[in-house]
Amino acid sequence: MSKVLVTGGCGYIGSHTIVDLINNGFEVISIDNFSRSNPLILDGIKAITGKVVSNYNIDLCDLEATKKVFEDHTDIEGIIHFAAYKMVGESVEKPLLYYHNNLVSLTNLLQLIEEFRVQNLVFSSSCSVYGNATELPVTENTLTQKAESPYAHTKQMGEAIIENFAKCYPLKYMLLRYFNPAGAHESAQIGELPIDRPQNLVPYITKTATGELEQLSIFGNDYPTKDGTCIRDYIHVMDIGGAHTAALKRMQQDPDGDWANIYNLGAGVGRSVLEAVQTFEQVNNLQLNWTYADRRPGDVIAVYADNQKAVNDLNWQLNYSFEDIMKSAYQWELTLADKVLV
Ligand code: UFG
Repeated sequence: MSKVLVTGGCGYIGSHTIVDLINNGFEVISIDNFSRSNPLILDGIKAITGKVVSNYNIDLCDLEATKKVFEDHTDIEGIIHFAAYKMVGESVEKPLLYYHNNLVSLTNLLQLIEEFRVQNLVFSSSCSVYGNATELPVTENTLTQKAESPYAHTKQMGEAIIENFAKCYPLKYMLLRYFNPAGAHESAQIGELPIDRPQNLVPYITKTATGELEQLSIFGNDYPTKDGTCIRDYIHVMDIGGAHTAALKRMQQDPDGDWANIYNLGAGVGRSVLEAVQTFEQVNNLQLNWTYADRRPGDVIAVYADNQKAVNDLNWQLNYSFEDIMKSAYQWELTLADKVLV
């Protein structure tokens, strides 16, 4: 069984990936300081997998504390680096917080990768690196544009830092660019836990459905799209998790193989905001309180992925539908209403 270090293991995508890794026979250790997550997620992982994941409650910006993890585990074969701040709006208001947190943690990690001779790294990137994409669907060869936010810029810089580092250290790495992850594990034991008021569409929908939020605003209905609302590529978070397991397996089994370093992780289908709302209502058999509102500044009109490269190279299968996303997200929200957050 090979050992994987997951940073941000209690976060949304990190926790779902840990479940998939464990189900595929990996041993997992996690680093998460709960700055944007909650320890109850560790209970959820245990309930699903029967395994207690050992989590180090430390800040990756603290090099010495992070080094301790590598000293305790000299047999780490791969690292999946999720830990980062990810709120676009917050990054615009507090750019230095984002540059410091997202980049110092990464350079610390790379320093330790070199010192402890770790071979494999998967980096959590984002479709935001494409900026206002010049073509649809977006392929990995679509040129990246100027970042629209400091958050997106940290992802562009993170990718570049890893690429440059790998020129002087024999690191196998993959940069996975996520489109719009949504949904929750089907057990409803883990899911998305937004801090404060959610900004993203699906948690906003689920909290409106439970009555925690009064009304959903659909931002803009005059875009040049099929129904006037924006188009995005929603992908089930367990499918995103599965891609990380597939990426690690590919790197381990075929270290010098003919695989690329950059992959788009999307479902490959563009869905409108209105379609998301209607599908949610339909699969959960309820009426959502929603209204049209002004466009949200900074939103791109449409973005969706060409995911063929990831499907083919990583031998990655997508197992969940758009309907599964909407159903599981709501089940998680209902479960969450009964949980006491610490
Ligand atoms: N939307 C609404 N109402 C809401 C929330 C969102 O209509 O209350 C709309 C947005 O206007 C957008 C769509 O739903 O058209 C999706 O919005 P999200 O905020 O869920 O997702 P984004 O596509 O804006 O952002 C995502 C990730 C970011 C990433 C970005 C890259 O959440 O981390 O993609 O484009 F940077």
